Amino acid sequence: MSTTVADIYWDPWDREIYENPRPVYRQLRDHAPLYHNDRHGFYAISRYDDVERMLMDRDTFISGKGTILDAMLANTPISPGLFIFEDPPFHTFHRARLMRVFTPRAVNLLEHDVREFCARTLEALAGHEHFDMMGDLAREVPMRVMGLLLGIPESDQRVLRDHFIETMHRPKGVEIDRTFVSDTFSTYLDYREEHPSDDLMTRLLLTEFEDETGTTRRLTREELVTYINLIAAAGNDTTGLLIGWTAKLLSDHPDQRAEIANDPSLIPNAIDEIVRFEPPAYSFGRYVARDTELVGQTVPAGSIVMCVSGAANQDDRVFGPDAEQFDIHRTMQRHISFGYGPHFCIGANLARLEGRIVLEELMKRMPNWQVDNDNARLIYGGPTRGWEHLPVSVG
Ligand code: HEM
Repeated sequence: MSTTVADIYWDPWDREIYENPRPVYRQLRDHAPLYHNDRHGFYAISRYDDVERMLMDRDTFISGKGTILDAMLANTPISPGLFIFEDPPFHTFHRARLMRVFTPRAVNLLEHDVREFCARTLEALAGHEHFDMMGDLAREVPMRVMGLLLGIPESDQRVLRDHFIETMHRPKGVEIDRTFVSDTFSTYLDYREEHPSDDLMTRLLLTEFEDETGTTRRLTREELVTYINLIAAAGNDTTGLLIGWTAKLLSDHPDQRAEIANDPSLIPNAIDEIVRFEPPAYSFGRYVARDTELVGQTVPAGSIVMCVSGAANQDDRVFGPDAEQFDIHRTMQRHISFGYGPHFCIGANLARLEGRIVLEELMKRMPNWQVDNDNARLIYGGPTRGWEHLPVSVG
């Protein structure tokens, strides 16, 4: 039976699709490259080239009304400085300010600590035949890295991390309590002002820049809290999900895992293939600022268009006939998992570093883990996609 456009359905909250999205991705790309969801009222694009084209046209497709579907549909107000949800000129200077302190050097300096932390976490699991790859490892590492980067006291890291994960995966329409995180970060800033260190929070406190009025100044308290909030929110859930997918995909493909065991230099490419094949950012969107044409059709001003990352990353028009296969040897020029163009993820190298080190340390200690697929559980849907509970056995 042939597929008609009316048969096709995609929405990020649909549990069945979330669990097995590939058939729908195929239908979207092949039969509805500009899909409209009548129930919630948004468009979705799924072919790789269309996604890149849209993300580059920032005059037409703006971020200033949000990029997360739930918030866009609810028209949730955006805090100034949260530059993932901004357009020029504000996006340009807010992003540039953070880039001044969030340098490749600052990221590379974390390597030693990240490795030591992974090693300690895995050593604590030695002798356990079963554990939860998400709770015991994948969720721990990014939390710890954020703690190091931002100077979050160890005693508070877990509560904050859980708050960010819950925020990301809350049921549709449920409001976020914004004061809890702002108040907490403000307390750390008070402490850091008195006790400077070499972390990113201190560098943000001390950085001086020329603002839009030509005045040289430091960041205000509100700006600081916003930057820290953005980094912690964007980097915690996504990176944990990447580590979870690493464990799942390599358990499902033991032949490829064995190749990595023989040749760890395959790891960096394997991490990019994991992030291509199972992108933690399930979808992200843009608001249409003026009537335009997309995929050869008219899209009116005021519409919402979502990029379906997993569908774009498996578009055979770009990734070839084996686009739907997982292959750690794939030579890849690009994928959409960290975005594209002016809003490209500023934490991509940090996420890659964390993924690489976790896999290196895992391979050294327990190279034959096996996911218990019957008891693995996906997390509740929303803007990101991955595992909540990933029981494994080792040995
Ligand atoms: C596997 C992990 C990660 C994934 C899949 C991911 C994904 C993304 C994507 C898709 C975007 C673009 C959003 C858009 O165009 O609307 C983005 C932007 C961003 N990401 Fe990440 N991210 C990850 C890790 C991180 C980390 C570790 C950090 C911080 C330490 C971070 C900070 C940011 C920020 C600040 C932006 C906004 C950039 C801008 O608007 O100019 N991300 N990320």
